[in-house]
Amino acid sequence: MVSRVIPVDPFDLIIFGATGDLARRKILPALYRRFCDGQMPGESRVIGAARTEMDTASWRDAVAEAITEFLPAKQCDADSIAAFRDRLHYVPVDALGDDGWADLKTLVRPGVIQAYYFSVAPSLFGALAERLQAFEVCCDTARFVVEKPFGRDLETARDLNRTLATYFHEDQIYRIDHYLGKETVQNLMAIRFGNTLFEPLWNTQYIDHVQITVAETVGVGGRGSYYDRAGAMRDMVQNHLMQLLCLTAMEPPSRFEPAAVRDEKLKVIRALDPVDPGDIVRGQYQAGETPGYIEDVENPDSRTESYIALKLHVANWRWNGTPFYLRTGKRLKARRSEIVVHFKETPHSIFDADAGSRANVLSIRLQPDEGIDLRVTIKEPGPGGMRLIDVPLDMSFAEALGPEAADAPDAYERLIMDVIRGNQTLFMRGDEVEAAWAWTDPIIAGWTDRRDTPLPYETGSSGPEDALMLMHRDGRRWREIAPS
Ligand code: BG6
Repeated sequence: MVSRVIPVDPFDLIIFGATGDLARRKILPALYRRFCDGQMPGESRVIGAARTEMDTASWRDAVAEAITEFLPAKQCDADSIAAFRDRLHYVPVDALGDDGWADLKTLVRPGVIQAYYFSVAPSLFGALAERLQAFEVCCDTARFVVEKPFGRDLETARDLNRTLATYFHEDQIYRIDHYLGKETVQNLMAIRFGNTLFEPLWNTQYIDHVQITVAETVGVGGRGSYYDRAGAMRDMVQNHLMQLLCLTAMEPPSRFEPAAVRDEKLKVIRALDPVDPGDIVRGQYQAGETPGYIEDVENPDSRTESYIALKLHVANWRWNGTPFYLRTGKRLKARRSEIVVHFKETPHSIFDADAGSRANVLSIRLQPDEGIDLRVTIKEPGPGGMRLIDVPLDMSFAEALGPEAADAPDAYERLIMDVIRGNQTLFMRGDEVEAAWAWTDPIIAGWTDRRDTPLPYETGSSGPEDALMLMHRDGRRWREIAPS
């Protein structure tokens, strides 16, 4: 398979928060990879801006170090890193003062695409936007990338949207949800809307239920103070799992273009019923071989969840009667993210009762080992009469599409290039984010008012036992969180 690199025009990408963790881990290694693929044409440059006093040479050293630290050795070529270094520039800038802005203005070129990446706390978005305009740094067509968390509730998200709207048009704002940049997440749309096979069956008449799982083995690590104020609901469900739900449940957009796709996703969020408190299970990991949640966040009284499972209903014609079960958690048994669509059994079996009956299951594995697996029913081979078994039609992208598939651009690479191309399809629109918070807020308010305490679960387990019950009582079972 030969991967196709779509050309982009020359650009200057300015990263605010250039010395921060996200820039080091994700943004800069992603840009280096695109550079190696020839996607930094002409004199395209990356300009780092942050409060830290540093010169360009030192920042170049720091970026080269980050590349070798966060990319596999086979992707780090000394000559390419040396050539990439020449594209990097650094300028110390005070987001809340006047220092550095004039220097930044002289660096940014007016004639090329300008993209400003706000990899900073959301409380700084307004100050940055104001100074970019006051010092006449950015041009009218500049693009602005903002990271999550986009607010912590509806009110703060609205405030952020209002602030950004004071300075920029919506078509200049790129709200990142890196899950939308994942290869298989986009494949979900290709599978649904590029085949005739699935769409006619993609409704409550044929689908019994859908499970969406994002299981992680990591704990909250060094991000305790942020995470303890967020919890799994704000950190993962309101954004990443919500996006997966939207792509699974949405109506076919008329075209694969920003307005059409985002309109359909918004309709899904607006169709969500409020969630019954009895359909929510929250958990907190306990100390085992590694510290427990409360040690990680250094807050013995914490009631924040590191795990959540919930059942929700999309109240529309397509989905009425088909529940969606979502779960996500840290320090679980395995790292596994997948969307599993359980079809209904055949309406009538022509086989004897002891032949067994089975239902088709389509699973879309997002990570690791991205791929698609469809369980189909066949006759058990041999002379033993008609007995049914199910077998996988399993496709691992890495096996089917060759090593290049495993080497495909990661989410940040794809999304940053979409910003340069001016394509907003895989970014969240302001109303979408607000709708997601409008659904999330009452759920969080419910357990806060009731002073609910999360249930303990063992590190390395599948989460609290009660989460199993959430399914069992409906006569269903979660898929095992197994390593692939
Ligand atoms: C981030 C969350 O947005 O996504 C983290 O803040 C989480 O808590 C991460 O670990 C998961 O991303 P990925 O790509 O590793 O599944």
